[in-house]
Amino acid sequence: MIPFSPPRIDEKNIEAVAEVLRSGWLTTGPKTKLFEKEITSYIGCSSTICLASATAGLELMLRWFGLKEGDEVIVPAYTYSSTGNVVLHCGAKIVFAEAGPDFNVSPESIRSLITERTKAIMSVDLGGFPVDYDEIKSIINDPEIRFLFCPETENQEKLGRIFYLADSAHAFGARYKDEMVGCQADAHCFSFHAVKNLSTAEGGAVCMNLPEPFSNDDLYRSLNISSLHGQTKDALAKMQKGNWRYDIVEPGYKCNMTDIQAALGLVELARYEDETLKRRREIMEMYHDLLKVNTWAELPSIESEIKTSSFHLYMLRIKGISEEQRDQIIQGIFDRDVSVNVHFQPLPLFTAYKERGYDMKSTPEALDLYKREISLPIFYDLSDEQIQTVCQAVVASVESVLN
Ligand SMILES: Cc1ncc(COP(=O)(O)O)c(C=O)c1O
Repeated sequence: MIPFSPPRIDEKNIEAVAEVLRSGWLTTGPKTKLFEKEITSYIGCSSTICLASATAGLELMLRWFGLKEGDEVIVPAYTYSSTGNVVLHCGAKIVFAEAGPDFNVSPESIRSLITERTKAIMSVDLGGFPVDYDEIKSIINDPEIRFLFCPETENQEKLGRIFYLADSAHAFGARYKDEMVGCQADAHCFSFHAVKNLSTAEGGAVCMNLPEPFSNDDLYRSLNISSLHGQTKDALAKMQKGNWRYDIVEPGYKCNMTDIQAALGLVELARYEDETLKRRREIMEMYHDLLKVNTWAELPSIESEIKTSSFHLYMLRIKGISEEQRDQIIQGIFDRDVSVNVHFQPLPLFTAYKERGYDMKSTPEALDLYKREISLPIFYDLSDEQIQTVCQAVVASVESVLN
């Protein structure tokens, strides 16, 4: 069976983890701090904090901005549950935006949904392909939209406009214009979950770019506190001679990254551009070449004049099929010993969201994308021969369902 996306594990990461285990310091410490610095310099953002997950980063940022009941956050309908759940955790209301033809949220849909209650906009670089950052930012900065914004907290007052929080969970290493994804929105959350391009088993990072008068270094310090119980000193600082006393300045969360995770991240980051991204691009280009001859195949966007994907998911669509046919095709591919997946079931389809009054009627494009989507396997060690096998399985299965 060809798996869907096993992590890349070799002696380098095993040795890096063993080194941390032998060091006697397992939780947040020197490796995490180094990983944060290296991410900041790779992405080119102002500051980075590493956390237990991207989800934790999204929630910490929404809480930092003071989201509460009665506030609205615009969220793409086409995303993973994490993007929506964090809004609900804060007690705010999700307003679902429609998808465009490349799966990513449509800027026009965002514009049409803004009200005086809108406090934040979240976008998702689906499969690693960047959203239309400049279009979304120009909506947020449009004087009429700024005029609608009603600040209610100190940070909202200071920003004076809608907060732009990018769920870039898939997009580590993607490019937008001449910059890395991670420099465009007020904050970007990346995921280092086990199935991601760069994995620390579980983990995530927030890259911050808040404009003046904010200090991203101050925000970094405040997120460190919020991610560790509201404690003024982390475990490493408390261990220093005579440094045991600390204060709790807020009822914080517990979502810091460990040095074991950071050690994995440092190994992966060092070989990310030259090995991981290079190979993932080759795999996607090979899929493109092998599948483009089929008139039923709608290939995912991986590059445009201004955007380059991080090559995270190969989100294939089959033209003109129903959801039932898609499911039959998936079964046929599995029967041929190839694992595939669906990214994503739009959030309003789920029970927890239906129970809160959401349905798919307002986002028909997202529903159509979902019904025809099949994600193909992609991982560093996928061989050229396996890519051929995947394509043969896809073609045979589609043709047996369509004919
Ligand atoms: C779009 C999106 N956002 C957020 C997340 C959450 O990432 P994490 O598992 O690191 O919290 C994921 C995870 O798959 C995701 O796909």
